[in-house]
Amino acid sequence: AAPKGEPGVYDVLKAASEYYRQQLKTAPAAINYLKGRGLEGRTAARFGLGYAPGSSGHGLKKVFEDYDWNKLLTEAGLVGEDEESHRRYDRFRDRVIFPILNQRGSVIGFGGRIIGDGKPKYLNSPETPVFQKGNELYGLSQARTAIRDNGRVLVVEGYMDVVMLAQHGVEYAVATLGTACTPVHVQKLLKLADEVVFCFDGDKAGRKAAWRALENSLEYLVDGKRLAFLFLPEEHDPDSYVQQFGRERFEQVLTQDAVPLAQFLLRELAAQVELESEEGRARLVHLAKPLMSKVTAPAYGLMIRKRLAELCRLELSELDPILSGRN
Ligand code: GTP
Ligand code: MN
Ligand code: MN
Ligand code: MN
Ligand code: MN
Repeated sequence: AAPKGEPGVYDVLKAASEYYRQQLKTAPAAINYLKGRGLEGRTAARFGLGYAPGSSGHGLKKVFEDYDWNKLLTEAGLVGEDEESHRRYDRFRDRVIFPILNQRGSVIGFGGRIIGDGKPKYLNSPETPVFQKGNELYGLSQARTAIRDNGRVLVVEGYMDVVMLAQHGVEYAVATLGTACTPVHVQKLLKLADEVVFCFDGDKAGRKAAWRALENSLEYLVDGKRLAFLFLPEEHDPDSYVQQFGRERFEQVLTQDAVPLAQFLLRELAAQVELESEEGRARLVHLAKPLMSKVTAPAYGLMIRKRLAELCRLELSELDPILSGRN
């Protein structure tokens, strides 16, 4: 029902989320799809999963126009307009819906997954006044307590990764929303816990995302906080891994195999040069320089520079002036 008083964009988002959740109950294809992926009812409930019906494109629009929420539907990114015909239609059609909540637990947007194969696989809410992808972390509202209790936050790529990890008892995971991990994300993550572990997919895109996360983290490193990267086997993402191997094994590799940021940084740079030659080692300094200039954490920075000096067969006192020099 429409809330009393003047409704706002949060009201329409909340009502839409409830509408989608109700729709899932009578959508056997969507239910079977989720069951087929191993999802349990209680997990679907925990994350408020739903279903956006049909091909008509007027499900939500029809229900909500009764309340004359036209402007709000557009503002919330739920209804779009066809550029040619100017006809309005539901943005999410025949998709499984993942509501995205902000830190306070209000719905601010949605992710919609196609049922089975097709493109685009995921459709997200557009940027709206209340939803900026680069600022939000999916699952944070549900993960908050576990993050505090574990002193650790795990960052993954996808909705299903967060949901499946939680189902298996790893409740401290959040996801970036199909974007790179931004500086705003990094700052948020470092406020949440002393240990931040990035665990992206084992594929090429995942490894690229890990490097982007590293680049965006350097500036915000703090002595006393731990950032690490867990690389899964090529064919896995956290969802598939936890389903195949279970929680215990996942948390074991998380603890044992996650690579500390400094190690990841130097490993990636060293892989790009010929360490056995002087030119190669000079090139390593050259590659490291712009990255090291971002690091302000004193002890953390010193540790990395010491390792870098060793790799380059230089004394720290020789390396430091080069790193801080202008050329
Ligand atoms: P599943 O196939 O459902 O397990 O999804 P996934 O999360 O494993 O997908 P994938 O690893 O391909 O992508 C990671 C994340 O990137 C997804 O969770 C989405 O947030 C985002 N993403 C993937 N495909 C698309 C797309 O076609 N469009 C948009 N906007 N985002 C996408
Ligand atoms: Mn992937
Ligand atoms: Mn994936
Ligand atoms: Mn997946
Ligand atoms: Mn299982």
